[in-house]
Amino acid sequence: VHKDPNSMAGSAAAHVLIFPFPAQGHVTPMLSLAEILSLSGLRITFLNTEHNHRRLLRHSPALSGFARLRNFRFLTIPDGLPEDDPRLSINFFKVQDSMMTSSRDRYKELLTQEIDGWPPVTCVVADGILHLANDVADEVGVPTLVFRTSSPCSCWVYQSLPILLHEGVIPFPEECDMDEMVCGVEGMEGIVRRRDLPSFMRFAKSADEHIIKFISTLNSHAIRGKGFILNSFEALDPTLLSIMRSYYPTIYTVGPLHLHVTSFISNYNEEEAEEEEVDYKSSSGSTSLWQEDRTCMTWLDNQRDKSVVYVSFGSVAVVSREQLNEFWQGLVNSGHRFLWAVRRDMVVSQGEEMMNGTAVAEELEKGTKERGCMVDWAPQEEVLAHRAVGCFLTHSGWNSTLEGLVAGVPMICWPYFADQMINSRFTSEVWRIGVDMKDRCDRITVERMVREVMEGESALRLRSSAAKMGELARKSVEEGGTSRADLESLVRYIKSTGS
Ligand code: UDX
Repeated sequence: VHKDPNSMAGSAAAHVLIFPFPAQGHVTPMLSLAEILSLSGLRITFLNTEHNHRRLLRHSPALSGFARLRNFRFLTIPDGLPEDDPRLSINFFKVQDSMMTSSRDRYKELLTQEIDGWPPVTCVVADGILHLANDVADEVGVPTLVFRTSSPCSCWVYQSLPILLHEGVIPFPEECDMDEMVCGVEGMEGIVRRRDLPSFMRFAKSADEHIIKFISTLNSHAIRGKGFILNSFEALDPTLLSIMRSYYPTIYTVGPLHLHVTSFISNYNEEEAEEEEVDYKSSSGSTSLWQEDRTCMTWLDNQRDKSVVYVSFGSVAVVSREQLNEFWQGLVNSGHRFLWAVRRDMVVSQGEEMMNGTAVAEELEKGTKERGCMVDWAPQEEVLAHRAVGCFLTHSGWNSTLEGLVAGVPMICWPYFADQMINSRFTSEVWRIGVDMKDRCDRITVERMVREVMEGESALRLRSSAAKMGELARKSVEEGGTSRADLESLVRYIKSTGS
């Protein structure tokens, strides 16, 4: 989308380029941030891979809204992978390496030259896990703000890697007790067990240069940046954030971004839309890389209040046919109704070969009768906000966790990998808005956990804590709230890069 930069009356000279890692859990929150910054009067270039941009154009209703923002444009960059590569997000290192070699020159050009008459980039918001975005910005001397799409607790555990190595916590001893508490992560004493550390750390051997190097590079980006942006809010982790503040450059906690964007847009509409003659309400909506199946909303409309378990494992996790079956059996045995998003590329056979997830789900659905509804990809935010949803069986991805928390829906956590291990621990033991079934995947556990979160005293307790947490999140993004204040200082910083 190319627009005339001269039509941007009143905007500052600052021009920020936002560059996410090309996966759903990264593109979504970074687009939310981009939208808010654009409405704050900043000039935005949002950089997608060509492949992802085509998918967004196909499946995401929000894209037409973005096109209406006058100081906003999308640019694209190749990811270097062959056209027919399935680009599974699980192949994280393959995407990372391919971009590093194939996209470098184009990215450097975007940072150093005027493209389509737009003024030069004055600041980059780089995804903290995308080495290319950070390295080249550093190399050409453009100030970088590092955005990590995961939780503060996971960032802090990663940052503690040198101490964990020094204390001998990593690598894990052979045959160790995974329930033993871990020392070496300041502020998390008595909370974190071996099994709660990000899964990369489970596999790290001192000889495994690749993983250790990856985490160390992440950490150094976060420290070197001009600021560290987190999709979270102060009241969720006040103690941890105060420890982190003495270690990182300025931390901006501007989340939950999906909530912030809604609150910001409604405010914006009231105050400025008339003047600008643009209805920004329409720029909200899904930013999905998959086609949403909205039939599940009609199915939900026909269910009783808080009677449905919503199940989704995000955009990356894969499960075996056997694991899928255990979840299904546990859900059926619980007697509760469920809505389950099973991605087409989510089920793998023993040999890691991909099966057609949709076909497997259809087969299971036949045995479920009217008690279960299965879709490829659900409009998750809307589903979680639906009155019929009583709990969320989740892989504890950070976006999903925030979406569940904002909706005040208690969670059953089945973390799959990476940051999800620690997110699920905090969900159950610190925020007390869910239960953690990490490292177990059998029908008995699934049934027991569903009952615990859906029935009796325990369900009431969890619902009440989840509702309180949702309220705190809402307060943080309102006028005078902590996330709103951090957003304002972030905007001030970015504007200063244009002067
Ligand atoms: C991963 C990590 O797990 C996450 O912690 C990190 O911060 C980003 O990368 P992912 O595994 O995809 O992301 O999970 P999550 O962060 O929860 O993001 C998934 C997104 O897809 C959510 O915004 C969710 O609403 C959306 N989604 C998922 C749908 O819209 N429909 C679906 O059916 C499933």
